[in-house]
Amino acid sequence: MSELRVTAITSLHAEFSVPGDKSISHRAAIFSALSNGICRVRNFLPSEDCLNTLHAMQALGARHEVIEELVGYGPTHLVVHGQAMRLSSPPGPIDCGNSGTGMRLLAGLLAGQPFTSELFGDASLSSRPMGRITTPLGQMGALIETRGTKPGCAPLVIRGTALTPITYQMPVASAQVKSAVLLAGMFADGTTTVIQPAETRDHTERMLASFGVTTRSHDNAISIDGGQMPVACDFTVPGDISSAAFWLVAAAALPGSRLLIKDVGLNPTRTAILKVLGRMGAHMIETVQHGAGEPIGNVEIHGAPLVGTCILAAEIPNLIDEIPVLAVAAALATGRTVIRNASELRVKETDRITTVVNNLRAMGAQVTEFEDGMEIEGGHPLHAAEIDSSGDHRIAMAFAIAGLFATGETIIRNTACVNTSYPGFAHHLQAILGQRSTPADFTLPTRSHL
Ligand code: S3P
Repeated sequence: MSELRVTAITSLHAEFSVPGDKSISHRAAIFSALSNGICRVRNFLPSEDCLNTLHAMQALGARHEVIEELVGYGPTHLVVHGQAMRLSSPPGPIDCGNSGTGMRLLAGLLAGQPFTSELFGDASLSSRPMGRITTPLGQMGALIETRGTKPGCAPLVIRGTALTPITYQMPVASAQVKSAVLLAGMFADGTTTVIQPAETRDHTERMLASFGVTTRSHDNAISIDGGQMPVACDFTVPGDISSAAFWLVAAAALPGSRLLIKDVGLNPTRTAILKVLGRMGAHMIETVQHGAGEPIGNVEIHGAPLVGTCILAAEIPNLIDEIPVLAVAAALATGRTVIRNASELRVKETDRITTVVNNLRAMGAQVTEFEDGMEIEGGHPLHAAEIDSSGDHRIAMAFAIAGLFATGETIIRNTACVNTSYPGFAHHLQAILGQRSTPADFTLPTRSHL
């Protein structure tokens, strides 16, 4: 089984970019396939999650050609042949792998199709709650059966039907649920509205706009009129700020360091991590280069002695995926960090409250676990430990970052899962670890198919 071995670093001076955004790549695969023509997608993330969604769209009739690939992973630059909103019945059950985003968005899409389909995933995905999407989609008229051994869980059998538009008040702040309902709403006859209890990432709304599909937002309500045709366009996916976050925390926690992350997504519904690291004492310069569709730019960060902070309830949905590595930053800071209102973490790829708390404790941190979060009393020196990722990509990567600050050699076991979101993570980690002896090369090998 794969593992990462990490020892402490004393300096970090680097400039590089991280692979494409996971959330945006899922949506690029779906909306380009629904469009009325040929779409070029650049900087697609060839992670297992996004490849599963790309293959799902292929199974539904939208073929694609690979122009460039990240060697050993998959396409980064592709041309997708849109099906003008007419998908075909897939030849068999669709594998969503480890991806909650893939399964929930595809369920919304498939609810309104004139055929039956089945979505399944791995053990982790098969234990995550799907009631949050089957409830609103059921209200629209979709017939979705949850066939998991755990009630309300995947596999999902979706008998597509003509959908009725609804106004849906979401009980949880979830961009996946919002997007599933909006996708179903594209196939409903009339106006579908989703009301979120708090702001969530708005990639679906932005990408729909790029494809010429109108949505209307008022406060936290988003409406879509069914029957609009996405107009084919070319799309460049920005770097993933959730992947950048691992290195941003490493640099922030190391006084004297300087890190420049280039061409990363700076969508304000995703940048709460930067605000929090700034509050903890890191010095940052953000430069937004261009703002068509998704804001993209550079983030330069300089390390400083960090201090603890209190994460605001409204910030939680906008840094939910960064909390594992933020907890590592908190352990490296002086003072207390409080993370509450984050019970959603319990239904991610693992129960990320328990996995983070247990692994931080194994490395010597002082942490109190709550049902909805944790409190970290920072400043207790970290020591090496053997950490099991439990198959959760963000746990594997967050604790590799912890290892950069621990005495001794930290071994992270069960790390193949990092390919779920960050192909090339091990390469970037080696470049940072190897900086002591050789100049770091962060370039990931690509191959052109032209
Ligand atoms: C995502 C939304 C978030 C996030 C996930 C990606 C998306 O989940 O945790 O990694 O792409 O819409 P929720 O919206 O369910 O909180």
